Amino acid sequence: MASSTVPFLPTILLAVAILVVTKLWSNYQWHRKYKFPPGPKGVPFFGNMFQMPPYHQGPWAKKMAEKYGEMFTIKVADNNWVFLNSSRVVNDLLEKRSAIYSSRPPMPYASSLMSGNCRVVVQPYGPQWRALRKIMHSILNIKNAPTFAPFQDLESKQLVYEVLQKPDMWWKANQRFANSVIMSVVFGKRIPDKEEGNIRELFNTSQEFIMALQPGANLVDTFYVLDKIPKPLKWWRGRGERAFKRLLKVYSTEVEDLKRRMSEGKCPPCFATKFLDNPETEKLGHAQMLFALGSLMEAGSDTSRMTLSQIIAAAATDSRWVKNAQEELDRVCGYAARLPEFTDRPKLPYLSAVAKEGFRWRPFAEIGMPHMLIKDDVYEGRYRFPVGTIVTWNSWSIALSEDEHQDPLRFWPERWLDPFIEGFGTKERKEIGEDEGARKALEDPLNGHWSFGAGRRVCTGYHVGDTNVWIAAARLLYCFDFQEVKGKPIDTMNMNVAEHRAAPFEVRIKVRSKQHRALVERVGGEVIGVRY
Ligand code: HEM
Repeated sequence: MASSTVPFLPTILLAVAILVVTKLWSNYQWHRKYKFPPGPKGVPFFGNMFQMPPYHQGPWAKKMAEKYGEMFTIKVADNNWVFLNSSRVVNDLLEKRSAIYSSRPPMPYASSLMSGNCRVVVQPYGPQWRALRKIMHSILNIKNAPTFAPFQDLESKQLVYEVLQKPDMWWKANQRFANSVIMSVVFGKRIPDKEEGNIRELFNTSQEFIMALQPGANLVDTFYVLDKIPKPLKWWRGRGERAFKRLLKVYSTEVEDLKRRMSEGKCPPCFATKFLDNPETEKLGHAQMLFALGSLMEAGSDTSRMTLSQIIAAAATDSRWVKNAQEELDRVCGYAARLPEFTDRPKLPYLSAVAKEGFRWRPFAEIGMPHMLIKDDVYEGRYRFPVGTIVTWNSWSIALSEDEHQDPLRFWPERWLDPFIEGFGTKERKEIGEDEGARKALEDPLNGHWSFGAGRRVCTGYHVGDTNVWIAAARLLYCFDFQEVKGKPIDTMNMNVAEHRAAPFEVRIKVRSKQHRALVERVGGEVIGVRY
């Protein structure tokens, strides 16, 4: 026995030695070729995986930025993540070099298995993603605002009515508003009360996807080597395939219902009616068509809800700006005379500044969203990034940096109106209406912050998101006062606005006067029970 194994031993040892040397040599070559910004030291195999908190990573990433400067690198398993910590570098890389910085990292479970590679948010940069984005953009752009405005008008009327009826349940009202607006925008169908049947399923699938995106939820999305094991050993496969089938069924049911309502002339114009009418849509294929609609639902609901929650927290914790907002609203709409309308927007610059500040103040995509580099790149002669590098903008850190914004922690709408505060415009003290730079910065929802992302990957629905938040905030502030609850101060640096099953914080909401109450009851009465 022994004699037969002995001759093999040197051969095996030699083979192992060759493998080790080859690996060391290729590592050496790789490290000579590429150079990343500095970052915290990690551990073998896992890298810095256990240093980054699984949730609320903003404060951690801000600390890292304070230590390492405009960029830092961490390693998560085999992937290098480069964090961009200033607007300057975000502009240089994600914006100006968008053609190569706009893919997404592979996600064998969340994107491939569970979403059939059809979920736009996690789709790689390529012809399929480009074709889809093009159609989405053609429908969601500002020219179609009049298609979506009636939905936002109606739902925000119901929002103020529900807040009046049950102020403690403001967070539920907020959630219904956001879900119903996006359901109407995408499928031309309201959610007048709570979600039921297929609509409930539809929102459940979004939650399932959000869970699948959480760090470590599916090991194969972090440790790609697992994707190479034989199919029968992939313990997550069945679960992913079932999820995919379930999604197709839920989306198909909704599209069948849509088609029925369209044929009966009962469906108002919306994203889906325009999408299905577009000859380009058919070329996308059936699954992609279904997922396009589903992806918009999941990208567009929680985002509006969370921004509104943050504006409510800001109102309760700082009455200075609320007073200014209410003064402007009363001047334009009269005292409890009528609700603010979209047509008032040019006369309500302070309210536009409130919405913009709501996006900047505490960005909920705290460490941005991963963009993946598709070609080797050199930055400022100092750094050489290989294809596959994951690059993200450090959203929380940039928004709360004193190098970027004056008094960054403060919810201060004035920063968007006074060119002296944020440093845009002509630098002469002029009224907002007279200062071209300040006016343009105010009107462009993307200007001044990175909360909608960057480059070609920027949020497709930012006009809808901006108008959702604007109309809801304008109407809430016109009708109500907001205060912290005694003994329960709101910690605005640690609000869990992602929480949808309970109030993320306690707040006291009081109608401003008897006349406001009467107004809200009247408009509420007009919309409760409206169905389409
Ligand atoms: C209300 C506030 C909203 C915020 C703050 C927000 C924020 C974001 C962010 C940060 C991204 C990632 C961008 C990047 O990777 O660079 C994104 C992507 C996206 N958003 Fe929004 N969003 C909002 C509303 C909406 C709405 C209302 C819709 C749909 C009508 C929408 C549809 C999308 C889609 C489809 C993507 C994926 C884009 C891609 O990967 O190509 N979003 N959003």
